Order: sequence, then C-alpha cells, then structure tokens
Amino acid sequence: MKIIKVGLVGAGYIGMVHLEMLRRIPDVEVVAVADSNPDLARRAAEKMGIPRVYGDADALLSDPEVEIVHDCAPNHVHFDINRKAILAGKGVLSEKPLSLNAGESGELVRLAAKQDTLTAIDFCYRYYPVVQEAAARVRRGDLGEVRAFVGHFLQDWLFYDTDYSWRLDPAFAGRANVVADLGSHWCDLVQFVTGQKIVEVMSELHTCVPVRKKPKDGPLSFSARRDAESEDVRIELDDYAALFLRLENGARGNFTTCQVCAGRKVDLELQVFGSKESYAWSHVHPNALWIGHRDRGNEVFYESSALQTKETARYAALPTGHPMGYHDAVYNLFRDFYEAASAKREGRPYAAAFPDFRTGHEEMRIIDAAVESSRDGRWVRV
Ligand SMILES: NC(=O)c1ccc[n+]([C@@H]2O[C@H](COP(=O)([O-])OP(=O)(O)OC[C@H]3O[C@@H](n4cnc5c(N)ncnc54)[C@H](O)[C@@H]3O)[C@@H](O)[C@H]2O)c1
Repeated sequence: MKIIKVGLVGAGYIGMVHLEMLRRIPDVEVVAVADSNPDLARRAAEKMGIPRVYGDADALLSDPEVEIVHDCAPNHVHFDINRKAILAGKGVLSEKPLSLNAGESGELVRLAAKQDTLTAIDFCYRYYPVVQEAAARVRRGDLGEVRAFVGHFLQDWLFYDTDYSWRLDPAFAGRANVVADLGSHWCDLVQFVTGQKIVEVMSELHTCVPVRKKPKDGPLSFSARRDAESEDVRIELDDYAALFLRLENGARGNFTTCQVCAGRKVDLELQVFGSKESYAWSHVHPNALWIGHRDRGNEVFYESSALQTKETARYAALPTGHPMGYHDAVYNLFRDFYEAASAKREGRPYAAAFPDFRTGHEEMRIIDAAVESSRDGRWVRV
C-alpha cells in the first residue's frame, strides 16, 4: 500500500495530540509541520522526526507532496487554511469549530463537494467506544423514541482572572467562546447518539469574569501565571452558556457549559431518555455506559471488543477491562478517516461515517443560532 503524506498546521496543544495519534495510523507519514511560531514547529519536527518545517500555513499548503492537511491552528484561520487546502486538491482533517460563522462553513461544504474533497472534523468524544455503542443501540431501536436529553460540559481552566487565552478574543475565537469550544462537542454528541438534528435553540450566554489580566507577551499565548506581566482587558465573550434545545422529532433538552467551575476539569455528560430505556455517559467515567430501566435493575455496560455490537467493537481496541482514553478516541476517528482516504485513492468504495465538514457546518449553525438567541432573547431556528 502507498504511504499517505500528511502536513500539519498548528503545533500547539491539539496539534501535538494529532501528531502522536498519526504515528499509530499505518501507511501514514507526516512530512511537514507549520506554525506561525517557528520554535514550536521546529520542536514538534524534532520530537516527531518530521522532515520539513514551515513558518506559515501557505508554504505547507503549496508543498506538492502533502496529500492531507491537519488544520490545528486557532479558529480565526480555519476557514482560510481549509479553503486553500481544498483548492490545492488536498484532503482536510480540521479542528473544530470549523470556521468563525456558518457563512464560512457553508462555503467550505460547497467547495469540498465541488472538488470531491475528503474532509473530517475532530469531534473526538463520539469516538469513545461506549458512545459509539449508545448510538448503535439507538439505531437498533433499543432506546425507543428519543423523548428528552440533558447534560453539561464544565471546566475550570478560566477560573482565575489571571487565566487568559486567545479563545476569549473575538478576533481569534469568533462570536462565541465556550458555546463554540465545548458546546460544539456536546451538540455533536447529542446529534450523533440520538440520530436527530437540533432544530431550535433558546440560549443565554454570559461572562462570569468580565475583566481579565491579559499577558503582555501576545494574544496567542496561554497564561495561567499569576505573576505574568499583564494588562486588564474587558471580556465580551461567554465563559458560561445555557441552552434549551429542540430536536427534529420534538424531543426537548437542555445543556449548560461553563469554564469557571472550580474542580471540574473535563466534566462532560449526556443523558438521553427514550420511550424504552435511558442512556447516560460521563467523560469522568468514560468507559461505562449507564442504561436505565423502569421495570428492572439498571445496567452499567463496560466497553468491550467482545461484547459491543458488531459495528462498534472495533472502537474498543484493547482486551476487555483495559480502559481506552482521550488519545484513543482521537485515534479511532483518524483510523476511520484514513481508511476512507486509502480507499478513495485506490478507487475502492468506502464508508464516510466519521464527522466531516457537513457536520462542522451543522455545529456552526447551532452556535450562530445560540449567539443570536442570547442577543435577541428568543427561540431561534437552526
Ligand atoms: N477536538 C478537541 O478536542 C480540541 C481540543 C483542543 C483544541 N481544539 C481546537 O484546536 C484548535 C487549536 O487549539 P489549541 O488548544 O491547540 O491552541 P494552541 O494555542 O495550543 O495552538 C495553536 C497553535 O497554532 C499556531 N498558530 C496560530 N496562528 C497560526 C497561523 N496563522 N498559522 C499557523 N499556525 C498558527 C500557534 O502558534 C499555536 O502553536 C482550536 O480551533 C481549538 O478549538 C480541539
């Protein structure tokens, strides 16, 4: 089999996760890395044995050897990088959110369809084995009709007013912070597990910490240092959001997300209530799916390559009892994507069940609706 040559843009936190998981994918070689901070790009290249280093995305995008681009730069450049990659005839695996607004993401979807581009977006939480299992059981009819759903995604990394990141600056993040950053993941989970689209949103976005100390050494740096030289800046974007949601079948749900919840690190939870049973999944115990019953004892289903349904067993790659984690979820998504990439290149049929730019666009439309709803104080159709 021919090796697929990959280039990655943005060697920050998630870029390094991508590089590590790409090493686990057979027949893939990362041949180039780019970052506007050349030190970071160089360090990543040295650590991972990547031959070519670029100081900007454009140079990597015009590298003819690169067939697939991983876009791990901040939100404000996703559209430009993804668009140029599509036009250069490369496949794209982008980080979320797909762009700054649904106008941009819609254009990416149209362009990718026109160019017949293989795209993916890293909604990795759906790739935990038991999340796949829950979705498969819903499709099989075990849950019955989806009636209601609730959940949250809570973190504490913006707890202090000395915590600062580009995610709080609209020029880099877009019109929303937490509802785009964490909300897009959660809304993807709901849509994936239930198989239903979110069609209407009523939201309240709020800024719990309205003034923060921004480090003077640049907006792209992340700071949790309380002694860093800083200036006080007013924060316009949300660090809290509460959403009422309606699914296309009429099911109702609500979701809260917040990044100033001391002690909550990646507290992501989804509960779905059907007409036959209920499911609950929490990222705090990510290997277990709670199955609730009215007339008999509840169950806890533990991820298992032996016991999961046929179509989801492949995502529980370890012998039963050995827990998979965040890295493995990212790996599962990459594996599905690169299997499709190999098949496409060789002209074989392939299933593209992984989240792609259409999924990213759906999430952008929900984020836009949430921003509009909070601004106008009314329900907004997605
Ligand atoms: N799927 C997930 O679970 C997940 C997790 C974290 C982040 N993300 C997404 O990944 C993206 C990056 O987040 P992060 O936490 O890694 O941020 P980060 O700040 O740690 O890294 C971003 C990197 O991009 C570089 N960069 C900035 N502008 C650039 C440009 N124009 N061209 C090339 N490189 C540029 C920066 O120097 C930095 O190294 C965001 O869109 C974020 O929403 C997704």
